[in-house]
Order: sequence, then structure tokens, then C-alpha cells
Amino acid sequence: MTIEAHGGRLIDRIIRGPVRTEMLDRATKEMKRLRLTPQEICDIELIATGAFSPLEGFMCKADYDSVVDTMRLASGIVWSLPVVLAARNKEADGLREGDDIALEDESGTVLAVLHLQERFHYDKEKEALEVYGTKDENHPGVGRLYSNGDVLLGGKVSVVNRPKHDDFIKYRLDPADTRELFRKKGWKRVVGFQTRNPVHRAHEYIQKCALETVDAMLLHPLVGETKRDDIPAQIRMACYEILLEKYYPRDRVALSVFPAAMRYAGPREAIFHALVRKNYGCTHFIVGRDHAGVGSYYGSFDAHYIFDEFDKEEIGISPLFFDYTFYCRSCYGMASFKTCPHDSKRHVALSGTEVRKMLGEGHAPPSSFTRPEIAKILSAYYRCESEYHKHPSETGS
Ligand code: ADX
Repeated sequence: MTIEAHGGRLIDRIIRGPVRTEMLDRATKEMKRLRLTPQEICDIELIATGAFSPLEGFMCKADYDSVVDTMRLASGIVWSLPVVLAARNKEADGLREGDDIALEDESGTVLAVLHLQERFHYDKEKEALEVYGTKDENHPGVGRLYSNGDVLLGGKVSVVNRPKHDDFIKYRLDPADTRELFRKKGWKRVVGFQTRNPVHRAHEYIQKCALETVDAMLLHPLVGETKRDDIPAQIRMACYEILLEKYYPRDRVALSVFPAAMRYAGPREAIFHALVRKNYGCTHFIVGRDHAGVGSYYGSFDAHYIFDEFDKEEIGISPLFFDYTFYCRSCYGMASFKTCPHDSKRHVALSGTEVRKMLGEGHAPPSSFTRPEIAKILSAYYRCESEYHKHPSETGS
């Protein structure tokens, strides 16, 4: 028996067969249209496949207010981040509650129909403060929130065309697929690992500590929209592939992509990441240092403490918390503040900025920080990047 989806039922909002043909026809000929942002396109797919169960569409006001204020849907079910569709005043003016609206991507392809239940205004500064913990527009999640339209459109969605992808095809598994995979493999206790970075030694260490106690791991890198200086998903995927091939037990690890946009909401996003991985069938979820954080907006372990605000049963998936981990030159191995007695001068701990600087200057990070195979891929990527910035016109892109 796999773990129950959040809210009790795995949602499926993909419309098939004659109903789809009729809806698509109506959408193309009769409905008003609204163009989606990259994040909204990610959300549509995640709603459609049940990754966001129990959500069946974009939030109406009662759910939105309740999520912002209490981290629960109006029904009381735990849900920590708003999932909303924003429109500009001018776009929203022509839309009436009860209308069906065609939602299209940037090429004009209709992806879904929104059954508009409610239009409402919202307080962006309040959302920024409650959800992201800051009103600072330099925070990437807050910056995106401020640039969104002023009206939210709530209602269920019916997906008629899934967003098209031409990358990572074999790694695109829906929650129903990962659940089936775990069942077939006989994995009962599966730990999910969220990441938006190449897997470094610290990640590998906490993953393997977790693997010591469960049956298997779902390495589930986020491949939706991230901020500009995060390493692109293609480069990261190359890192994950080589790492799994050379350093992980093949029959106990599955790699699949998580097609979500990064919100950088720190603690609230840790809850969200855990609940969503439960929908993918994971029973455990790793939360390390500054999970889903950015800059210094959150305390290193705020994403641990936030789980104390809920009963274990209402989260359902078990968080596995990890302290700050690093290579210790006196322990001759990976360790954390919980296990290492030595002075922090003996620790190899590099920040993202330091690593970027090192790579930018043509130096590979040490093998105590990252496996040499990963350092090689990252060095090649940074060399291309710096060439591009030196001679943008000559690269032809
Ligand atoms: S995240 O935005 O997806 O959280 P990242 O890919 O860096 O960023 O982290 C993936 C997971 O590893 C998160 O749970 C994070 O807390 C954890 N993590 C990253 N680095 C460390 C570290 N040095 N020590 C402990 N946990 C870490």
C-alpha cells in the first residue's frame, strides 16, 4: 500500500476523449483567452497530475486568505503556499464569474480551461510578509509577486493539452507513475530529495544517511523556473546522471524531475515540498540547512521548526531533518555539527557565491566539496558562460 495522497485522493484534472475534443473546440472558438506566465504553466501541470492534491485549480478567496493567514486551506487541510492565477485589471475586466476561460501558453496553444468561480483583489505586501517573511522586492519570490497582476482568478481547471516539453523526457514521471514505480520495485519507505543545485558532497552525505534507514530515494530535482544565477537544469541533470552511475546503488535510487517553479519561500516552501512529495508517493522527505532559502532571509533551521506547528498526522510524510553538513579535515570525512568535535577552521564549507567565484576564475572546487566528475561538468559550464559574457555576439545565441 502506497502512502495516501494529501487530502485522501490523488487529483486528476486531465480531460481526455470526446469531452476534451469538445472543450478544446469551444476554447478555441468561443472562450476569452488569458496568457499564462512560466510559473502558472508549471502550476497547471502540477494541478493536472495531482502533484498539488487536493487542489483542483487556482485558489479562490477563502482558500487564499486561509493559506496566507494560517497555512491551511479553508477546509483545514495543511497547505502552506498560495497557488493562484493573477491577471492585470484590464484583462480581468472582461471576465465574469461563471465564465470558462481558455488559458494559453506563449505560443497561443490552449493548455487548459479555467472554470472561473471567483475574481478577487489581494494584498501583495501582506502575502509577501506572511509567505516570504519579507517585503523586500529583491527577494526573487517577492519580486515575482509584485510584478504579477492585481486580480486573482480562482476556480477549477480542466487541462486539455499538457505543457509540451522537449527535455528530460524519460525523467518526467507523474505522481501516478512514481507511485507505480515504487510499488513495482517493492519500495515501501521512500525518501524524497528536493534540490535546485548540483548534488555536492553535503547533499550526498545526507541522502546516504537517509538511505541507511529507508528502502529507497527519489532524487527529485526541481526543473521549473529558477532565478538567473542558479545553475540551469540541463547542467544539473548531467551532474545527477554521472553521480548516480558512479556513486549510488542503482536498485535503490530513482531520478525523476519535479516540474515546478522555485518560490524561494524557505520554511513555507519546505512544508509545500514535503506535501507534494507525499503526492508522488514518498513516505519521508529530507529537510536540511536553509531549505528553499535565498540570501539571508531565513534562519538556517527555520524550515525545521515550522514542522512543529502541525500534527505529524496532518502532514503525513515524515520529515528527516539534517544539521549543517560539511567535510571535516580532522574527521577525514563528511560530518555535521551534531557529529564533529573539531574547530570549524577544519571544515570545508563553501557558499554558492564562493563556488561560483572559484569556477568563474577557472578553478575547480575541491573533491572534499564536490565529486571530481561534477567539478568537471561545472567548470566546463562556467568556461562557456564566461566566454559568452566576453563575446556575446560570437556565440550566436
Ligand atoms: S533547495 O532550495 O532546493 O533547498 P539545495 O538544492 O541547495 O536548495 O538543497 C537541497 C536540500 O539539501 C535541502 O533540503 C537543503 O536544506 C539541503 N542542504 C543543502 N546544503 C546543505 C548542507 N551543507 N548541510 C545540510 N543540508 C544541506
